[in-house]
Amino acid sequence: MNKEVIEEQIQYIRKVKEMMKNEKKYYNILTMGCQLNENDSEKLAGMLEEMGYKPAKNGTVSDIYILNTCCVRENAEEKLFGKVGELKKIKQKNNSIIAVCGCMMQEKHMQDKLKESYPYIDIIFGTHTLHKFPEDLYKVISEKNKIKDILDIDGEIYEGLPIKRNSNKSASVTIMYGCNNFCSYCIVPYVRGRERSRNPEDIIAEIEQLSKEGYKEVTLLGQNVNSYMRTEKKENRSDNITSFADLLRAVNKIQGIEVIKFISPHPKDFTEDVIQAIKECKKVSRLIHLPLQSGSTEVLRKMNRKYTKEQYLELVSKIKTEIPEAVFSTDIIVGFPEETEKDFQDTLDVVKKVNFEQIFMFIYSRRKGTPADKMESQIPEEIKHKRFDRLKELFEKQVELNNKKYIGTIQKILVEGTSKNNDKMLTGRTTTNKIVNFEGSKSLVGQVIEVKIASEHKWYLKGEKNF
Ligand code: 5AD
Ligand code: SF4
Repeated sequence: MNKEVIEEQIQYIRKVKEMMKNEKKYYNILTMGCQLNENDSEKLAGMLEEMGYKPAKNGTVSDIYILNTCCVRENAEEKLFGKVGELKKIKQKNNSIIAVCGCMMQEKHMQDKLKESYPYIDIIFGTHTLHKFPEDLYKVISEKNKIKDILDIDGEIYEGLPIKRNSNKSASVTIMYGCNNFCSYCIVPYVRGRERSRNPEDIIAEIEQLSKEGYKEVTLLGQNVNSYMRTEKKENRSDNITSFADLLRAVNKIQGIEVIKFISPHPKDFTEDVIQAIKECKKVSRLIHLPLQSGSTEVLRKMNRKYTKEQYLELVSKIKTEIPEAVFSTDIIVGFPEETEKDFQDTLDVVKKVNFEQIFMFIYSRRKGTPADKMESQIPEEIKHKRFDRLKELFEKQVELNNKKYIGTIQKILVEGTSKNNDKMLTGRTTTNKIVNFEGSKSLVGQVIEVKIASEHKWYLKGEKNF
């Protein structure tokens, strides 16, 4: 079934290619939001390139514009309206095709708003119909129709579509779709549907292929990676991969891949077997992203996170005991409804105790249809912003202290490229995601090498290759 659906889409790719064989056509994709959306955009780019489209150079006009939207926070809506407005003139002049897709298109009020206010959009499609993009595009080109292709039920997992990756060293691999957690502030479970895991053999085959193509680093993606395979049938599997821990061990065995990252796990599902798998698998990054959201047990309860402040801290210390070199990054929301000064102090307390390497900080944003949106005591904007600034200030102080720990240590670096201003200087990242600049020959780009850290400069470290 799955194969037939994809075969049909491949036929549409051929048809579009045939229609455009004597023309040079360009595409432009603007991606908003998380790495899962980035990965979806890589698939759209893959389909477009198979059809014969080329990426447009910065600032030049395209024949097709795709806006891949996110709806996790409110400001993305304003950004989208601005972009669609800008594209109107370009469309009038060049007859470009405009497509809008992604999470926001799964929201009924957004579909209606776009239809009403921006009727010149050619294709609107959602997260569950991405694989049908070739068919939608073919119909727009050949029949000049406007298309709305949105499914409200969970999409199936389709394998075998082309992909054009953004980097040739580090690749994202989606391992599961959807989320079952329903954190009370979050729109994702409503727009991405229930958890579905990709087959382990498809994931392993994709990563083996990446390794053959020279990729050194993979990031395993999902809304809740450590519940991988939880909702799938596990009997009679020949590969014995029935959990996230099993998957980590299997990926760790793939030759050529040197760094394995994953985002995002949920603290409530960070089980002993996952900790043991990370400990055993030396390729797995020692920077563990562990979304905290709030340090207050009371706020965490209202957020439906299913752990307390103490349980989070215990988990951190358990991981540290098993894997002493582990460090952490996190997501924090400030200004959740009813958050008191005391609750916020608890968040600052956890930040001080864990000493995060990186914090992705968010101001709480009301999302229609979520339980938190209906809570009465929403926090005034001014207080939210003040708390955000206080958290940022605390974190920046910690960054400087943290960086000092690196001085004199030897770090494994994936070399990403040369510095823009000086081509004798290379730049790369430690497995804990710190930027390191150092002198070296261009031939090292794409390799994983060891560098000794000489000094720290707040947002980057300086290293030496010959130590
Ligand atoms: N408001 C602010 N931040 C949010 N996030 C998710 N929903 C919201 C919201 N309504 C943040 C969480 C999540 C990250 C991807 O986005 O911190 O981990
Ligand atoms: Fe949203 Fe919570 Fe699911 Fe993450 S785990 S996607 S925050 S509902």
